[in-house]
Amino acid sequence: MSELENQLKRRLTFAIISHPDSGKTTITEKLLLFGGAIHIAGAVKSGKNLKASVSDFMEMEKERGISISTSVMGFEYKGRKINLLDTPGHADFSEDTYRGLSAVDSALLVIDSVKGVEERTRRLCEVCRMRHTPIATFINKLDREGKDPMELLDETERELAIGVRPVTWPVGQGRAFKGVYNLVEKSLYLFVPGEVERPTDMIKIEDLEDPLLEEKVGASLARRLRDEVALLTGVYPPFEMADYLSGKATPVFFGSALNNFGVRELLDTLAAMAPPPMPKAATERVVRPEEEKFSGFIFKIHANMNPKHRDRVAFLRVCSGKFERNASYYHVRSGKPFRTANPTAFMAQDSEIVNEAWPGDIVGIHDTGTFKIGDTITQGETIHFDGIPSFAPQIFRFIVNADPERDKQYRKGLDQMAEEGVVQIFSKPNRPNTRVLGVVGQLQLEVLQYRMEHEYNALCSYKNIEQTIAHWITSDDKKALEEFVDNYATRILVDIRDTYVFMSDSPWHFERVKSTNPKIRFYSTSEMVEVREASR
Ligand code: G4P
Repeated sequence: MSELENQLKRRLTFAIISHPDSGKTTITEKLLLFGGAIHIAGAVKSGKNLKASVSDFMEMEKERGISISTSVMGFEYKGRKINLLDTPGHADFSEDTYRGLSAVDSALLVIDSVKGVEERTRRLCEVCRMRHTPIATFINKLDREGKDPMELLDETERELAIGVRPVTWPVGQGRAFKGVYNLVEKSLYLFVPGEVERPTDMIKIEDLEDPLLEEKVGASLARRLRDEVALLTGVYPPFEMADYLSGKATPVFFGSALNNFGVRELLDTLAAMAPPPMPKAATERVVRPEEEKFSGFIFKIHANMNPKHRDRVAFLRVCSGKFERNASYYHVRSGKPFRTANPTAFMAQDSEIVNEAWPGDIVGIHDTGTFKIGDTITQGETIHFDGIPSFAPQIFRFIVNADPERDKQYRKGLDQMAEEGVVQIFSKPNRPNTRVLGVVGQLQLEVLQYRMEHEYNALCSYKNIEQTIAHWITSDDKKALEEFVDNYATRILVDIRDTYVFMSDSPWHFERVKSTNPKIRFYSTSEMVEVREASR
């Protein structure tokens, strides 16, 4: 087997997706502890303490600038090199999260058993579904009095439009939580509260009628488990690897991250079954990771928060071949050669210069303004990877230069911020100076103002815009598109690629316009094509 094939098989690149407060930070920390990547709990920072003000947020970003490595956490576990991508903690930065998902091959969905499926989970899963990303699910906080597990399965299946396949099943809940029964291994894992460092007790119980079950969990929970398992096996088909890998169904695990219960088993399962780097669809063709020639794309750009250093870190996902330090590559968008002397790999709390990287790896590249999100680097071929779309923002504002004397700074700042993906910028057709900002969350507007002032010495203010729902539009019928754009002139914007965006006031209004204009196609991402499925 070639070195490339060997390295490929070992790689596992995934992200945790969840609604804030579900336990993502706690799980990340436990995974890193098991992987030996950190040695003390509390080393992974949660992003949720920044609900407060912009300056709190900026402080935190500064810290992140220094320990940028927390964005990608690499560690070794059971022979696999695992790359765990962090997604921003704050809900306002979810567009960054969406894009981060373009760089992973699978996702771990965390659901709080008390709250069930929440808003952000829904949107993140939509993105995974669009790309057919395999999802494993961990239902957390079983030590609390949460929703009924049957109801949780049902809710997950219904709300996330994905098949659910319980792999473990809880025995009791809240104060009565006794552990989980693994339906595939047919073993009982017992939970001992407070004993976080001890390996979980595992007892083989092939047949649930075995009286050992009563002995271990008591008569009432034993009876309930038998009834529920009988019900489950009637309702849900058994877990099939192919359904997981194609994103059709998600294996579901139950546990309590805080109590370290179920997390190691989860990691073992992921190490055993999560997919290695997958082929990636590009506009030109499907790129396979085992191809000898290197290719990769930039999915995130992280600004240095120190205004004296305008440099940034661009995050490159390696898609095929071997990436080498100092080798000469091709930057597709500019058509120029590209070479880097200090590509950085990220371990849990460290980063180091590396000589090589393989498909699935994330490499940090020191950038002085060369890259934009979505850029491809290859060994000469022209490739544009799909799947790094802009998502429809939810908040729109006209942006106004509040200090016309500093117009140059204002334009530069705005352009750079758009390149970094902090905001999306639209304009009115034929009126390029009327600029509209689109963001996913309110905080982004404040961050933009702060950074414009502190990094670019420019002032900006906002004016409200009535419409709040954006859809990218196309049509096979050019004339119909032109007519539509004419008819709805006050509601049309263009994005930075000169694609039309239609603005509506409400879901109801949108539906009405859509149904009366059957020739127009509406999309909620800028990519406007169903991301093609790379053959698996
Ligand atoms: P997040 O990154 O998804 O936002 O969640 P995080 O891990 O920070 O967890 C959110 C809260 O839920 C934390 O409590 C955490 O301790 C708690 N938590 C995580 N897993 C479990 C679990 O299995 N059971 C229970 N009962 N709680 C859990 P906090 O009080 O908000 O923060 P902290 O002071 O404990 O850090």
